[in-house]
Amino acid sequence: MPHTLLIATTNADKVTEFRKALADLHYHVQSLSDYTGYPYIDEDGLTFAANAYKKALGYYRHFNKPVIADDSGLQVPALNNAPGIYSARYGGPHATYDDNNRVLLRNMCHLCGDERQARFVCTICYIDEQHIRYFTGQTDGLILDRLTGRHGFGYDPLFYVPSLQKTYAQLTTSEKNRISHRGKAIQRLKTFLQAIS
Ligand code: IMP
Repeated sequence: MPHTLLIATTNADKVTEFRKALADLHYHVQSLSDYTGYPYIDEDGLTFAANAYKKALGYYRHFNKPVIADDSGLQVPALNNAPGIYSARYGGPHATYDDNNRVLLRNMCHLCGDERQARFVCTICYIDEQHIRYFTGQTDGLILDRLTGRHGFGYDPLFYVPSLQKTYAQLTTSEKNRISHRGKAIQRLKTFLQAIS
């Protein structure tokens, strides 16, 4: 019988990335979209780790099964690491990905060269009855001055990875998983899951 692992998100893009990356483990991967009537957990922490922990703990207590929750975002050092933990709502409380990209482009229009450096960070928190563990991944890049590429989600069309000479949005899901902040955090999670199963 495979173990069940609940990914505490309804974000279909993230679920796709997690499922692909964990496909070769013997886990039955579920997401919140497989359920109804679960509590809403506010991401009001001040760090990615605090938000990931809050979600993982809340859903572990509710579902009583192994849970992973992640919090991730884009940090631009020249903008004091904004949008950071506010990445999902940079353009306002109901902002779409397009709104967020527009605000980012506007706020960076006076920046050039190294000032356009950015990093994506992802922290995953895993909780089961015996463990609370954190796994973090980071990928460095540059913010372009226009949208480039059609894959992915969020800030992907603006995030250029110099070593690949492509944006995240020009990569397939598998290519992105290999080098992305979330992919790196998931690899660390996978090593841990293999060790405990
Ligand atoms: P959360 O981790 O669900 O709170 O969302 C963080 C936000 O960061 C997302 O809504 C996106 O705007 C952004 N983000 C996180 N990971 C990625 C990614 O892989 N590509 C593009 N945007 C991302």
